[in-house]
Amino acid sequence: MGIEPTRSDDWLPTETLEFPEGFLWGTSNAAHQVEGGNVNNDWWAWEQKAGSPCVEPSGDSTDYWNRYEEDLDLCARGGGQNVHRFSLEWSRIEPAEGFVSQVALDHYKRLCDAILERGLTPMVTFHHFTTPQWAAAEGTWADAAIVDRFARFCEIAAAALGPDRLPYVCTINEPSVVATLGYFVGMFPPGVNDADAQAQASANFVRAHAKGYGAIKAVAPEAQVGISLAMQDTQVADPDDDAARGFAEFVDFRMVGFFVDALRTGWIENLGPVVADEEVPGLAGCGDFVGVQYYARFVADPSSPMFTTPEPEGSEITQMGYASYPPGLGVCLRRAATTELPVIVTENGMATDDDKRRCAWIAAHLAVSHEAMTEGGVDLRGYTYWSTTDNFEWALGYGPKFGLIGIDRENGLARVPRPSLDFFDEIARTNRLDPAVVAEYVGLGT
Ligand code: GAL
Repeated sequence: MGIEPTRSDDWLPTETLEFPEGFLWGTSNAAHQVEGGNVNNDWWAWEQKAGSPCVEPSGDSTDYWNRYEEDLDLCARGGGQNVHRFSLEWSRIEPAEGFVSQVALDHYKRLCDAILERGLTPMVTFHHFTTPQWAAAEGTWADAAIVDRFARFCEIAAAALGPDRLPYVCTINEPSVVATLGYFVGMFPPGVNDADAQAQASANFVRAHAKGYGAIKAVAPEAQVGISLAMQDTQVADPDDDAARGFAEFVDFRMVGFFVDALRTGWIENLGPVVADEEVPGLAGCGDFVGVQYYARFVADPSSPMFTTPEPEGSEITQMGYASYPPGLGVCLRRAATTELPVIVTENGMATDDDKRRCAWIAAHLAVSHEAMTEGGVDLRGYTYWSTTDNFEWALGYGPKFGLIGIDRENGLARVPRPSLDFFDEIARTNRLDPAVVAEYVGLGT
């Protein structure tokens, strides 16, 4: 038994696909990956620590803190994009417990206004991986105290921004990734290797989502607020391999199932001995949408060093080491829809130096998304490509290139728009995926 090679080209559209009116088209980034100089969060400390798994520190990053207008001008230039997703850096707004920086709040107000002035809609993420060092000093997400701290931050930031700047909000980005890589694998801060801590962090994240949701909606009742979940299509190479199947089920539950179930039922359940089952007030159906962030399949194999079956010869491998596997996005969208909430693809993108392959990735994943809407009945409202520009890819540093816009790090962080930006803009402007346009940008037949 094995798995089939996979590449974007196998999933390109063969006919013109129209997207619904009002579909959200845009790009996504996150504060710590682009702003630069975020010295007060746990990631900065992690990057500097002796023996850190980070290949390089974030440093000045792309200086989005100062240069966001340049990036927004590029996002708006094609006239098709209508949303821009970014995140608030909690450690800038509250660098010490209880001290709220008006300067930081004013910055984010100006950023939202700059987005709105260009005809884009802000989609504001309140927590994207980073936590202020003062909160990290005390167990961070494994300690239940974080829930009220995060809710208070949501209250403060939402009140300062006000309802007009908060049409779309993601409370928390990929809680399963932080819980797993930070508390179980030890590759993200706080660098813990403890399955119980992973469970506690997962539970605190869903509690924080429910409380944060309430705090944001109290200020902005009309805001569309959701949580963005990391989703992967978990498979096994051989369905008769019981050990692999059991392992796959466990990984899938901790990475995806737990969070989808929590949103659907309102219960924290099945996290093992340290987290008692609990019904969380307000958690059932908590959200106006659910964000799906999809990159790859995960072929579970407990006996392999990376816990995953290597991709077969012929698969298209990205700079992240995983393969382009578009149909997995369809699986994840259908699964997200079991929450009965509308769905937005809040992240999906390819790290590559070959921009034509990026165009193929986009086309194939949009074709699969379209099918999930039309055949799968998924109420899909939008797609924000990861990422606006190349940026700091966490422990992997500046190597992986995800951007529709390149950043010339040798030349003053100059913005270098790629053809994929024009391609994406054309899809957005016409609200359709046309095979002839795809062929042109992917370079088919050339
Ligand atoms: C996601 C994460 C982003 C970005 C992306 C690409 O897991 O939310 O911050 O790093 O992956 O790997």
